[in-house]
Amino acid sequence: MKLKVGVFGTGHLGKFHLNNWKEIEGVELVGFYEPDDATAKDVEQKYKLKRFISPEALIEKLDVADIVAPTNHHFELCEAAIRKGRHVFVEKPLAHTLDEARKLIAMIREANVKVQVGHVERFNPAYIAAKNFELNPMFIEVHRLAQFNPRGTEVSVILDLMIHDLDIILSLVKSDVKHISASGVCVLTDTPDIANVRIEFNNGCVANLTASRISMKKMRKMRLFQKDAYIGIDFLEKKTEIIKMKEDSDKDAFSFDIDTPKGEKKTIAIANPVVKDSNAIKDELQSFVYSIIDNKPVVVSEIDGYLAMEVAHKILDTIGKNGVVSVH
Ligand SMILES: NC(=O)c1ccc[n+]([C@@H]2O[C@H](COP(=O)([O-])OP(=O)(O)OC[C@H]3O[C@@H](n4cnc5c(N)ncnc54)[C@H](O)[C@@H]3O)[C@@H](O)[C@H]2O)c1
Repeated sequence: MKLKVGVFGTGHLGKFHLNNWKEIEGVELVGFYEPDDATAKDVEQKYKLKRFISPEALIEKLDVADIVAPTNHHFELCEAAIRKGRHVFVEKPLAHTLDEARKLIAMIREANVKVQVGHVERFNPAYIAAKNFELNPMFIEVHRLAQFNPRGTEVSVILDLMIHDLDIILSLVKSDVKHISASGVCVLTDTPDIANVRIEFNNGCVANLTASRISMKKMRKMRLFQKDAYIGIDFLEKKTEIIKMKEDSDKDAFSFDIDTPKGEKKTIAIANPVVKDSNAIKDELQSFVYSIIDNKPVVVSEIDGYLAMEVAHKILDTIGKNGVVSVH
């Protein structure tokens, strides 16, 4: 029997979700809830899909709620679906405030439903290609830059864009955060539009992140430095580069030798792992459906969503202490 799915919020990203749900195995799209009449009419015509007049009416008819509404509505929609025992896919960030996120975690436990958070970069093929390599970074440099768009500005650039990188970093660095320094500036909105953050972890790893939603160009790059390698991940261009120290006996056409100051010979190899041509949104939704069908853990849980939010809010608090007027 197919799982019945309904989409809540059919704006920019919601339409991508609708397109992808049509191609996902094991589901039937039963309808959508969208408060904006013009957007809803467009979706009804284009997708020949039933519009429900309230979230509750749609929740009654489905097994899986896909929440793609603005972040400040995630909590109320998740709560309504979870309390009815429905599985939920919710876009990132899990919720707007930490208090909302904690309440959701308690509800999810009680209802025993599956929830996945839309940290889609975990499914980015460039990241997946990098993960085939053993990642143990001690220094991370990140740039996530976007041109200005009013969408998403109900929250700061930290909760809107940087949260993607926070989730990836927390999934890679298995150590607690020791200290955060941060600076942010409100330029076009009344929450930070650009921010630079340094996170120190207990294991000595340091991550430097820059996120901006007021840039002239787009960029989504993460560079990982570890004892034996440099790994560059370009989430936007979907490219991965690995420069690695090799054993002398393990040479190939792409390796070259260098002399160290101690007079030793080291072999350096450059590799561009094959990055699969894939659709990360389809893959994350499909993986969620398989977790429900096979009763297996989701790839990005509500706890992962919470941990990324927790660091994001610590960053916002730090920026707030530096005198930025409004941070949340
Ligand atoms: N994973 C990603 O890479 C990614 C990218 C973009 C957006 N997002 C997330 O997706 C969500 C939506 O972003 P978007 O860019 O599509 O925004 P959007 O403004 O284009 O669309 C949001 C839609 O939700 C509707 N809406 C408003 N209140 C609602 C409610 N109470 N219930 C249902 N629908 C409601 C709006 O009318 C609008 O059509 C946000 O949480 C955002 O953080 C994630």
